[in-house]
Amino acid sequence: MKLKVLGVGSSMREKSYGTKTLKIVLERMEKLETETHLLDLRKVKMPTFDPNSFMHSGKRLREITEEVNWADVFILTTPDYHGPMNNFLDHYWQEFAGKTFGYICASHEKGLTVMDQMRTAVRQCYGWSLPYGISVNAEEDFNEAGEIGSSLLTKRLRMLARDLIVYGKLIRKQFLQDLSSKESDTFAARYRLRT
Ligand SMILES: Cc1cc2nc3c(=O)[nH]c(=O)nc-3n(C[C@H](O)[C@H](O)[C@H](O)COP(=O)(O)O)c2cc1C
Repeated sequence: MKLKVLGVGSSMREKSYGTKTLKIVLERMEKLETETHLLDLRKVKMPTFDPNSFMHSGKRLREITEEVNWADVFILTTPDYHGPMNNFLDHYWQEFAGKTFGYICASHEKGLTVMDQMRTAVRQCYGWSLPYGISVNAEEDFNEAGEIGSSLLTKRLRMLARDLIVYGKLIRKQFLQDLSSKESDTFAARYRLRT
């Protein structure tokens, strides 16, 4: 199974440290035999969620939804302000079930509260979260050349890439297996198409 990974960057800054970090993780995951896509919400503007047009109408939204459905694993990346990420999360629900999520927050204060907010939204959609997240602090973690200058951060990013692949595969495989079985005592049972 070749894992499909969607990285979602939600900083509105062109030189975002968070999105830069996300790209580093995606590159690492490509080397580890996964397929990756980047959804950069600075470039791909999402309409504000409107429950009255819930059916994902509009070409841009349809394309984003295709990517969301395609993915087995997500990496959600945001600065402390997280309106753009919240809006992305507002659009989806069942699409996240049985998928694994990792988190990156660019912050001077670690952004743990922000990561918890994302984790709560994902849990509500029956997605699975890694128990840790990655904090990026621009001045401390990147050097003047714009490269990561912290060996601790490099180590944690490699850990994130590795863990998302291992746990992402396990969870997706089990979810799909439960979905196609007739067993009723699983959370996947509620996602079966009723005929
Ligand atoms: C509206 C707004 C709110 C922010 N709130 C905080 C905050 O509460 N704590 C903090 O450390 N940084 C805060 N920041 C700073 C950004 O989180 C920080 O610069 C981050 O590195 C930006 O991420 P980026 O480089 O990916 O764009 C805020 C920035 C903005 C624009």
